[in-house]
Amino acid sequence: MKLFTDGDADLSLIRGRRVAVIGYGNQGRAQALNLRDSGAPPIVALREGAPSRARAEADGFEVATPEDAAARCDVAAVLTPDDGQAEIWETALKPNLPQGAALVFAHGLSIRFGLISPRPDLDIVLVAPKGPGSALRSEYEAGRGLVTLFAVHQDATGAAEALALSYAAALGSGRAGILPTSFAEECEADLFNEQAVLWGAIPELIHAGYETLVDAGFSPEVAYFECLTEVKLIADLIYARGIAGMREAISNTAEFGALQGGRRIVTPETRAEMRHILAEVRNGSFVAELMADASAGYPKLRASRREASSHPIEEVGRKLREIRPN
Ligand SMILES: NC(=O)c1ccc[n+]([C@@H]2O[C@H](COP(=O)([O-])OP(=O)(O)OC[C@H]3O[C@@H](n4cnc5c(N)ncnc54)[C@H](OP(=O)(O)O)[C@@H]3O)[C@@H](O)[C@H]2O)c1
Repeated sequence: MKLFTDGDADLSLIRGRRVAVIGYGNQGRAQALNLRDSGAPPIVALREGAPSRARAEADGFEVATPEDAAARCDVAAVLTPDDGQAEIWETALKPNLPQGAALVFAHGLSIRFGLISPRPDLDIVLVAPKGPGSALRSEYEAGRGLVTLFAVHQDATGAAEALALSYAAALGSGRAGILPTSFAEECEADLFNEQAVLWGAIPELIHAGYETLVDAGFSPEVAYFECLTEVKLIADLIYARGIAGMREAISNTAEFGALQGGRRIVTPETRAEMRHILAEVRNGSFVAELMADASAGYPKLRASRREASSHPIEEVGRKLREIRPN
């Protein structure tokens, strides 16, 4: 697989386009700031009365409605929550985008699951930074970048790939690497990973380890350091050296313990459940559930946020953050 870098991208392409960034949240703000610092200042598109309007204006951006911005741009980056993108497409983008414009997505969901059926005259590209907006911005400011996946779903103009590379380079990702993929691969792998590894499994593992220690009479603070704080230290080591390299940096005792414990927690049943999660992602049933919860005002999501924030581990974390020296 080829890893594209700044040398493969022509920044003048994106600098020569009128870019609109729709949404000014996690990705929207970071991408708008990076684009501007790379010489491609965007218009920010937000609804009338949007709470994030003040922040975009304070950051010095011109703010327009999605309808107005769509009519005035020739590259529109859709950086709003996935569940509302189809409506923005129908009401603002489809009727207003000029012929031959490009739509940039940061996640493949709306295209992979057919929530948006784009006009045939548009270039449809994916530029998906592999990390949160805060990291996309801080890496850029530090002179580095975040690895980004890119893909072309529809190449109406013949220049879609070059434009996607140019946009990714303007985000700073040419400094780290721009990896080719497809909308389906990015979307399915991302949805799987969110549930089976990162946002689903790791916090659940932390809760379970913490509860096991506290229920057995250990102090909440010690349980917190053991089961939560050290996750960052291990993640940093794995990021820097790989899993085998991380093992070289831990004690023989820890390494021997890993040998004993890991496979008792991630069992053949766990792996079978991972395959079920992947199947539910690929057959669309997860996305159907997501959209149903979104259109009902997110009752399940709000209940799970309440549950997470009322877990006793949060109170311990708050207290420890208050007293720690740095
Ligand atoms: N979170 C990440 O860092 C991350 C990483 C990689 C990829 N992605 C992808 O990036 C996209 C954006 O995710 P996100 O987490 O950045 O979203 P987000 O922070 O939840 O986006 C919120 C922003 O979208 C605006 N918005 C919501 N509905 C809108 C509408 N109908 N019209 C115009 N603006 C609207 C909000 O404006 P108001 O002020 O009106 O609320 C707010 O500015 C998604 O496709 C996601 O999968 C995200």
